[in-house]
Amino acid sequence: MRDKPKSSRLASLALGSLLVAAAGVASGQAWPPPPASIKGTLAFSETIVFDYDRDGTQDRVQFWIELEGKPATGEPGKFGAEEESGSVSYFVLDLERQERIDDWLLGFNMAGGGGGFPVAGQPYPITNIRIDGRTATFELQGAKWTITDGGDSWEKDTIEIETGGRKKEGKFYGGDITVTPDPQTIWKPVDITENRRCNRCHEEAAISMAAEGGPHAELECAACHVEHPPKAPGTFPQCLECHYPHDDSMVAASCVSCHSSHNVDLVQYAITVPDEHCTACHQEAAASLQASGTRHMGLDCVICHQAEHGAIPTCVDCHGAPHPENMMARPERCLRCHVGAHETKVRR
Ligand code: HEC
Ligand code: HEC
Ligand code: HEC
Ligand code: HEC
Ligand code: HEC
Ligand code: HEC
Ligand code: HEC
Ligand code: HEC
Repeated sequence: MRDKPKSSRLASLALGSLLVAAAGVASGQAWPPPPASIKGTLAFSETIVFDYDRDGTQDRVQFWIELEGKPATGEPGKFGAEEESGSVSYFVLDLERQERIDDWLLGFNMAGGGGGFPVAGQPYPITNIRIDGRTATFELQGAKWTITDGGDSWEKDTIEIETGGRKKEGKFYGGDITVTPDPQTIWKPVDITENRRCNRCHEEAAISMAAEGGPHAELECAACHVEHPPKAPGTFPQCLECHYPHDDSMVAASCVSCHSSHNVDLVQYAITVPDEHCTACHQEAAASLQASGTRHMGLDCVICHQAEHGAIPTCVDCHGAPHPENMMARPERCLRCHVGAHETKVRR
């Protein structure tokens, strides 16, 4: 399982000022609203030991990227139109000194930028930037990135990187990305007269309800929020007044353990969701797991399928190295011999 490195808290403290800049959009009531953009920082390594200043002593560092970009706006050639712009730069966070180092390796670069090792202090352009609600896509050095901003931490964001037709979930250890949606697309669907008075003070709830063209975009806030402020938590989301539960194991309070309250199409869950809530729809998967007779039976669905609906783990996420190195190097091969996670017997 993925361990959260101890350093990540430290790292985000050190980057406090950067992150504040990135999070600024969330609470403000600025008018006109800011244009669509993507901005933020992400740690792409755990703490490693690396003598970046080549003074002969090993430094404890973490590698980060800083990224920012804006899609093109307006009609090209017309007044007010702007071209897309954006870049990524790689920096090192010195954990001892709590300092951001842009010119690590003091300008000396091993592969001259060609061998996959980034050139210190140089911005790499990002291209084909598109922003759709809270999701941004762009290209960086031949890879296509898709980032959905789910809140104020990288753990709430989803980051997918596609290279040569293969999609992989990006692995990060700290930071945050903010995607600011195009104001034109935000404000149209939520402009329900009754909601205007709420949106003035609760911009984020309103944006999230409408940004992805969510199914609830047409609802009045008061359909769920009947008193202000609510006297006790849980006095509102009466999902069951309008919907049936997926099965009898669910009560009204279960709904928001999977469905995000405002953007209900987003299904994300905590590690506390019980198996019965999954088996409401996945009886076959549950049955194949039980029939396997393996020790996987003892694991909850959400231990393997973590956080986001549809997430599929790889075997090596959990199994260090049960086989010799040459076999472990190709995780995609596990299923040649093992039938699958739900039935991990060996094909004979
Ligand atoms: C003048 C500003 C203002 C307006 C207008 C307003 N609210 Fe609020 N709302 C607040 C404040 C301030 C709080 C208390 C914030 C807190 O305790 O974190 C609050 C609390 C809430 C909460 C509970 C928040 C929580 O964290 O539990 C909900 C839900 C809510 N408002 C919904 C609405 C809805 C729906 C409307 C429109 C019918 C509305 N608000 C209109 C300012 C406003
Ligand atoms: C379909 C039901 C539904 C509608 C419609 C709805 N909300 Fe909510 N809202 C919820 C639920 C569920 C929660 C989370 C309650 C909890 O965690 O206990 C919530 C939480 C909130 C909160 C607390 C902070 C947060 O974002 O979690 C605010 C503020 C809020 N809603 C404002 C609004 C506003 C403004 C609107 C209209 C634009 C609105 N809501 C429409 C269901 C709804
Ligand atoms: C006031 C009635 C009302 C309430 C309360 C309500 N919904 Fe909805 N919901 C709707 C309507 C209307 C639609 C859109 C029409 C449809 O697809 O049924 C919808 C659609 C949805 C959809 C998407 C359906 C699809 O086909 O994509 C989900 C998921 C959903 N609601 C979940 C919830 C959850 C979770 C809650 C509680 C937080 C909730 N709803 C509360 C009325 C409501
Ligand atoms: C264990 C997670 C989970 C819980 C808990 C959950 N849902 Fe869902 N729900 C989903 C998933 C996943 C989908 C999407 C299924 C699909 O892609 O067709 C969904 C779809 C929906 C839809 C769209 C129509 C449909 O039935 O496919 C509605 C409406 C809905 N949920 C309402 C609710 C309500 C109301 C509750 C609380 C009683 C609830 N959900 C609890 C995971 C959950
Ligand atoms: C409301 C019904 C519903 C609930 C509840 C639900 N799922 Fe699903 N799930 C679906 C549907 C429908 C699909 C297939 C649709 C698709 O491919 O997106 C699916 C697909 C999946 C997939 C396969 C994704 C893939 O790429 O093949 C996994 C894994 C999964 N669900 C796990 C879970 C887990 C774990 C839970 C409980 C936390 C859960 N589901 C709860 C309806 C549901
Ligand atoms: C979320 C973590 C996790 C993932 C992902 C995972 N496993 Fe496991 N696996 C376990 C645990 C925990 C055990 C039980 C270990 C024990 O009891 O000593 C286990 C046991 C096994 C066993 C021994 C079965 C037995 O009953 O003796 C095999 C074989 C196995 N896993 C193969 C796989 C394969 C192949 C995959 C990928 C398809 C996979 N595992 C994915 C956690 C995981
Ligand atoms: C040991 C880890 C593990 C556990 C526990 C686990 N899964 Fe899976 N699941 C996987 C992996 C890996 C895949 C991808 C296909 C494969 O390797 O078998 C998968 C595939 C799926 C799929 C899509 C393919 C299919 O068989 O329909 C669904 C749905 C699913 N799991 C649901 C569940 C549910 C529901 C539970 C709990 C009852 C559960 N899983 C428990 C690892 C696990
Ligand atoms: C060439 C076939 C083959 C491949 C490929 C393979 N395995 Fe195995 N694996 C086996 C056999 C055979 C066993 C012993 C099974 C038994 O005793 O029933 C085994 C056992 C295991 C065990 C259980 C070890 C224990 O101590 O009980 C795990 C976990 C496991 N494999 C994981 C994996 C993972 C992860 C991969 C992919 C990186 C993988 N295997 C690839 C054939 C294979």
